[in-house]
Amino acid sequence: MTRVLGIETSCDETSAAILEGTGDDVRLRSLVILSQDVHRVFGGVVPEIASRAHLTAIVPVVERALSDAGVSPNEIEAVAVTNAPGLVGALLVGVSYAKAFAWASGIPVVGVHHMEGHLFATSLEHADAVPPFTALLVSGGHTLLLDVAAWGQYRVLGGTRDDAAGEAFDKVAKLLELPYPGGPHLERLARESDAGAGRFRFSRPMLRRNQQPDDPDYYDVSFSGLKTAVLTALRDADPVQDGPAIARAFQDAAIDTLVAKTARGVEQFGRRRVVVGGGVAGNRALIEALVARFGPSGVEVFAPSARLATDNAGMIARAGLFRFERGDRADLSLSAFANQPLPGLVS
Ligand code: KG4
Ligand code: ZN
Repeated sequence: MTRVLGIETSCDETSAAILEGTGDDVRLRSLVILSQDVHRVFGGVVPEIASRAHLTAIVPVVERALSDAGVSPNEIEAVAVTNAPGLVGALLVGVSYAKAFAWASGIPVVGVHHMEGHLFATSLEHADAVPPFTALLVSGGHTLLLDVAAWGQYRVLGGTRDDAAGEAFDKVAKLLELPYPGGPHLERLARESDAGAGRFRFSRPMLRRNQQPDDPDYYDVSFSGLKTAVLTALRDADPVQDGPAIARAFQDAAIDTLVAKTARGVEQFGRRRVVVGGGVAGNRALIEALVARFGPSGVEVFAPSARLATDNAGMIARAGLFRFERGDRADLSLSAFANQPLPGLVS
């Protein structure tokens, strides 16, 4: 058994967690997530403010995670920290803290790719959310469809050509004058529409019936056209009266596309499980649509709770434990990177 301290500061959540276990037999002892509210007034994350807020929060957040778990610093055996991708200044706060903690305790530090963290998040709540599976990762910064034969073996099937799924939700929410981050507000507004999408219907981006697995857009998604479609629809609509139906029409189109592309991955690789991760996995309509699509054929859908769907250090500790057990060790030269490919890519 290894006891890991996980740290996540890639965007606007300062988070720490204590996790212990071996292989897939793990237990999350504590999880503290401090969301930076300050960005709301700016309608988006301001990187410099995010870095400073992490700096203020990191020590008390880690101390709280330790005390919630009833663990003292000298009982930690490894530190796992998100070091890519994300806002470099924000990542650096977590990375610097993690290195200092590890050095002071004489224990190893492991760098974790943020998206590998999202991939592991669901397994913290569902013992069966383990490979092999098809993974749909939908966050504010990334959209990835993966075939996962085993932990650490990721085949990228597709991704977004432009906006990430969460980013599209946020941008459309902004057009509908909803607060930031708009994803959950848009979902709520869409649910208010009794008549569903009403007279509004947007075409499904990059989704055609006759597409073949070799086509470059067989798995890829694109959301920027959908955003333009919403903008055009709003020109001759009443934003207050038609808002719910437009939100619903956008959400329907985005979800239909994501579900259809995921189904292609499930079919091509004969998988029996679908694992969803990232902030947009908190969207109930998306999960219901996946369950409706896959339930009849016995393919299981696993989604994290809202707490583990958004950025959190529990998933980083979990992915870090996997990397640690594989023998991965960083040294004090570990740095932060805005972009970095997912580790373990196979073709
Ligand atoms: O994974 P995450 O917490 O941060 C990143 O790594 O980016 O994802 C945040 C994104 C935001 O764009 C937010 O609007 C979106 O997830 N989101 C949602 C919902 N809850 C969060 N999008 C649609 N529906 C939701 N219920
Ligand atoms: Zn994330």
